[in-house]
Amino acid sequence: MRLIGIGVGPGDPEHLTLKALRCLKEADQVFVPAGGRAAEIVSAHVECTPLDFAMSDAASRDEHWDRAGQLIAAVSGTAAFATIGDPNLYSTFTYIAHTVRALVPDVIIETVPGITAMQDLAARSGTVLAEGEERLALVPYTAGDASLREALGSFDTVIVYKGGRHLPHVLDAVREAGREPVYGQDLGRTGETLVAPDGRAPYFSTVIAPAQREGRGSRL
Ligand SMILES: C[S@@+](CC[C@H](N)C(=O)[O-])C[C@H]1O[C@@H](n2cnc3c(N)ncnc32)[C@H](O)[C@@H]1O
Repeated sequence: MRLIGIGVGPGDPEHLTLKALRCLKEADQVFVPAGGRAAEIVSAHVECTPLDFAMSDAASRDEHWDRAGQLIAAVSGTAAFATIGDPNLYSTFTYIAHTVRALVPDVIIETVPGITAMQDLAARSGTVLAEGEERLALVPYTAGDASLREALGSFDTVIVYKGGRHLPHVLDAVREAGREPVYGQDLGRTGETLVAPDGRAPYFSTVIAPAQREGRGSRL
């Protein structure tokens, strides 16, 4: 069998690439996380099978990955798993692929890249992510405040994912590093905003700490 992880972009249905759409249409069965954003985007084009995932505790997470893996491993032909953003960046697809490979050792695993949330925020806010010799870091805030501050001290542009619940701390760290944060929430969806709320934000929010530059080509 073949398993393809397909990135569908962070929210805007127009970010589904032509390649992603073709692979979804050619797959024998398409799986999506139940009730999620990928399901909304994909179900406009193909029939899909929802899979439940629980993130509450490690035991139920493993149980759901196992169950999903078993359903996917039973497909003869090509199974597709649609995921928001890119499948190789903080995606459930990684764990699903791992599970399916354990069940079907000769499975062929492929991915179709998707537009990431950081790219979408850069575009919507007019933020250049990197120029010349600049270095860029992507930090999940779940790795801790110290990890973000360390990245801010070492990298030019720093992107923060998974920081919604602690948004005030994220914004403080970025400002204390002398940068003006760029914020984006629910990008490509109803409710999208680039204005940071006071207090905590939803899970689907991203912050960019932009690089500091002194004019055209200053970092070449
Ligand atoms: C599990 S990661 C998924 C990343 C995704 N695979 C990608 O390629 O961008 C979830 C994090 O991505 C970011 N994210 C995903 N979709 C977003 C959206 N529509 N608006 C803002 N941030 C988003 C948020 O930081 C969220 O906490």
